[in-house]
Amino acid sequence: LRIAVVGGGANNEHEVSLASAAAATRAVRRDGTVAVPLTIDRNGGWRHTDGAVLTAAEAVAALTSCDAVLPVLHGVDGEDGAFAGLARMIGVPVVGSPVRAGALGMDKWVTKLVAEAIGVATAPAVLVGTGVDPVLPAELPVVVKPTTGGSSNGVSVVHRPEEYARAIAAARAAGTDVLVERFVTGREVDVAVFRDRAGALRVGATLEIGVAEGEVFGTAEKYDGSAAFTVPAQLTSTEHDRIESAARTLYTALGCAGVARFDFFVTGDGVVLNEVNTAPGFTERSQVPRMFAAIGLPYPELVGELVAATLR
Ligand code: DAL
Ligand code: MG
Repeated sequence: LRIAVVGGGANNEHEVSLASAAAATRAVRRDGTVAVPLTIDRNGGWRHTDGAVLTAAEAVAALTSCDAVLPVLHGVDGEDGAFAGLARMIGVPVVGSPVRAGALGMDKWVTKLVAEAIGVATAPAVLVGTGVDPVLPAELPVVVKPTTGGSSNGVSVVHRPEEYARAIAAARAAGTDVLVERFVTGREVDVAVFRDRAGALRVGATLEIGVAEGEVFGTAEKYDGSAAFTVPAQLTSTEHDRIESAARTLYTALGCAGVARFDFFVTGDGVVLNEVNTAPGFTERSQVPRMFAAIGLPYPELVGELVAATLR
């Protein structure tokens, strides 16, 4: 078996993706499967991860020499369905979500519309499109974020009116359209789902992210090792069941494949979806591997399952 593993990407989650792809490559190789690691540079160019630069035609040839490709690309031009589209058009099975789920899940506004339509609550929000003058929300605090982004890049919490314009500018610099959401007070609890080789949905343990009161799980906390994960999260059975059923419903409604992580807030008024990640952080220490390790599926076996499910 030959599996291409693609990391990097031309966006501001490049480094995170390289770390995820390196871990996935090690996991693929654990059972003697041949891994072909490829990197997409910050400028969109391709190379073998060990160095040799590839033309676009050579990159396609490297992909088509493999039985499947495991893209570990976070963010735009990767997680958003762009990579799945490339793989589909050149006939290489892709481990992970197809075009539609990637595109829907990458756009936090569209995700919200789908979630609300199928009965999964989200924070009240307005979309501030490109070239549209933002109107200060009547109620603060709000969270201002690019509709398409990851790792909290360009995300700010606005407590005071004078902070609003700068928050909009920061979100626009990291994306295009901007989402202004009511700040949700609650515990952040995430869960992940994948479809196994028998076609059944497998749900990992819930994971609670410990951040200081009034803070958000931002870019720094995501990667400086300061966030404390509790696996499984301490939830009432009602909260647990609600999170699990919302994640299953969303996975199916969006048309996900491979593993997707669903991030929720557990509030006094119930469970609220924050966002969906169809190419979630995937180092051994990332949330998804921790969630599945906790239900007896260690990281290399998780990767093996995802590959097997793609090839079935
Ligand atoms: N976007 C980052 C990688 C995550 O969701 O894990
Ligand atoms: Mg995300």
